[in-house]
Amino acid sequence: MPLVSMRQLLDEAAKGGYGVGAFNVNDMEQIQAIMEAARETKSPVIVQASRGARQYSQDNFLYHLMLAATELYPEIPTVLHLDHGNSVETCKTAIDMGFTSVMMDGSLNPDGKTPSTFEYNVDATRQVVEMAHAKGITVEGEIGCLGGIEDGHGAGLDGLSHLTDPDQAVEFVKLTGLDALAIAIGTSHGAYKFSSKPTGETLKMARLIEIHNKLPNVHLVMHGSSSVPKALQDIINQYGGKLKPTWGVPVEEIQLGIKNGVRKINVDTDNRLAITGAIRKVFWETPEKFDPRDYLTPAREAFTTVGAAPMTQFGQAGHAGDYAPIPLEEMARRY
Ligand code: 13P
Repeated sequence: MPLVSMRQLLDEAAKGGYGVGAFNVNDMEQIQAIMEAARETKSPVIVQASRGARQYSQDNFLYHLMLAATELYPEIPTVLHLDHGNSVETCKTAIDMGFTSVMMDGSLNPDGKTPSTFEYNVDATRQVVEMAHAKGITVEGEIGCLGGIEDGHGAGLDGLSHLTDPDQAVEFVKLTGLDALAIAIGTSHGAYKFSSKPTGETLKMARLIEIHNKLPNVHLVMHGSSSVPKALQDIINQYGGKLKPTWGVPVEEIQLGIKNGVRKINVDTDNRLAITGAIRKVFWETPEKFDPRDYLTPAREAFTTVGAAPMTQFGQAGHAGDYAPIPLEEMARRY
């Protein structure tokens, strides 16, 4: 099956009342791991690449690896999504490359660092919607600013500095016509999200529910959703790492989000931790080894295991065979 639009996956997820994990990748092993996890759990899947990932893989490598994924895993509905596009131009290059979904993150200026104005965000997102929908490509936008920095993108604020205003979210959706809306409810990118288990004061699920009640038919997106399990932190530290104690987003909060309109859940950090832990273990236990396959193979396996868990927890498991892909031309006609 060819790469499919994210809109189709999210519409199906809404019908089925489940969420779909969106996993960041940079290289072949990560793509292989996530596709293997999708096959094991029979899950539709969103594979996403940030600007940093596109640069790292020179774009073409990543795109052609994703084509290989569709050839080798024809039964898995797979989306290739641009994570945090910083400008209309960046989204255009992704669409031209063959991505089937793009995020225009106009919550920050094109420098990817300073919070933008509402007017700028609407204008940039609207332009991307017009360009993308003409080709059947899905658009995710963001209102409010997430905390943290990822691949150099982010204001570096804490998660509570720019929460999404529910009324502004309604206005934003109306003015842009986007397909999926990322909201800021206290999460941030990276490992250091919360200094203790989050409460309603630090992770604002009530705000999410308020937004969902005002926008019941809009697909919501939770960024910064790694759960940063202690077990993964422990493996890294056991084999010479130096992570400070930290807390992520508990899975039950994500499941509450899924009951309240969350259809796309972004996960990157957990997979990075799994890969690093596995590699550290090999280096620590067998320092004489130097064949990359000796440590990349367990790293890939660790990512597969850690990637399969959310697919089951978010409910996407078992849904890969539910539907046939809608061609992008047909998606374009439907807008
Ligand atoms: P994590 O850092 O929590 O994995 O979030 C990733 C993300 O939101 C990518 O956009």
